Amino acid sequence: MKTQVAIIGGGPSGLLLSQLLHRKGIDTVVLERKTRDYVLGRIRAGILEVGFVNLMREAGVAERMDRECFIHDGTVISYGDEQFGINFKEHTGTSVVVYGQTEVTRDLYDAREKMGGQIVFNVDQVEIHGADSDKPYVTYQVDGTAQRIDCDYVAGCDGFHGVSRQTIPLDVRREYEKLYPFGWLGVLSETPPVHHELIYASSERGFALCSMRNDHLSRYYIQCSLSDAPGDWSDQMFWDELRRRIPAEAAEALVTGPSIEKSIAPLRSFVTEPMRWGRLFLCGDAAHIVPPTGAKGLNTAASDIHYLYHGLVQVFETGDTEGIDRYSEKALARIWKAERFSWWMTNLLHRFPDQSPFDLKMQRAEIEFLRSNRAAQSAMAQNYVGLPY
Ligand code: APR
Ligand code: PHB
Repeated sequence: MKTQVAIIGGGPSGLLLSQLLHRKGIDTVVLERKTRDYVLGRIRAGILEVGFVNLMREAGVAERMDRECFIHDGTVISYGDEQFGINFKEHTGTSVVVYGQTEVTRDLYDAREKMGGQIVFNVDQVEIHGADSDKPYVTYQVDGTAQRIDCDYVAGCDGFHGVSRQTIPLDVRREYEKLYPFGWLGVLSETPPVHHELIYASSERGFALCSMRNDHLSRYYIQCSLSDAPGDWSDQMFWDELRRRIPAEAAEALVTGPSIEKSIAPLRSFVTEPMRWGRLFLCGDAAHIVPPTGAKGLNTAASDIHYLYHGLVQVFETGDTEGIDRYSEKALARIWKAERFSWWMTNLLHRFPDQSPFDLKMQRAEIEFLRSNRAAQSAMAQNYVGLPY
């Protein structure tokens, strides 16, 4: 098989890149390890920056999102019994879109299938060959049969545990990582959201987040120990602990119900440099991970896709390689700012096991400075709605 761009990974990064390139007449093949239903079964975050929304529009897959999403002009931050709002719209003129990543991925799959996009599911043994040559190719197995795709370029969109990053030689790669000493226990419930905006809660018992997917589907998180397992937490234990960490008014208003999904995710900051090796380009989680506190996971994948999409269109249409030559530099410049913001919000709102009384005073002073200073609120708002591409 021959294609112009072989895309490893059928998550949001790979699907969005494939859809954008297809609309420009550039041929792609997406190789996905799992099935479509398995990919759609993953519950992920749901805050979209305007840059991501614009890419979805350019990809022609924004209709349902525009119809069903929420627009949030701000968020609530609570600490102990105190709370305050950050008005994104007032500080930046823009808002964020609330629309589940699962729905984004579903819309992308539907669009790819409608356009006859080539997606191969249940692939195994994917290997990228000759990435540092002018004739790269990818081998893989499907149903036990060996296959090969000759291509011009390879997009590694296969997430943190994929094969693409590992293809870049260790003496070329530089990796940066920070592991946080806690996880997030998340619950999805068919209940109305407790508030019309998100509530980021910092309490002496730990962090909590009240989020949503729509008027009848809510998403809640509490900071938990890395030694916890979802089965350690009954629904009642979860709701009781959530109530202890959020403002009293919200705790009172909280509508609880059976969890339809319950999972624990560890928190990690991670970046690999460079994001390009020869004709292989890493995008999204394959290259970087953020703690979910700043809702940047999907939104950093989006700016990678933006840079790579425009660079590939440029090289296929004009032969000019300036865009792809600058891909890694441009993508990393924005990624590191998102890493900083996600690290900052995580440190601001979580309890760390080794915090001294002085550390706790510093944390509270940081929150109170954010509450009282417009410049601090503007800085947070600019980062939360998304820095420019
Ligand atoms: N071969 C083929 N596919 C693979 C391989 C492989 N060797 N390894 C992983 N995959 C697939 C996974 O099954 C997954 O569907 O690649 C896809 C990667 O998707 P994501 O992990 O969702 O990464 P990405 O598309 O970059 O999206 C980033 O997802 O994890 C969240 O918080 C993250 O919101 C962010 C978004
Ligand atoms: C979510 O809705 O899942 C969500 C929202 C905001 C975050 C993280 C997760 O910062």
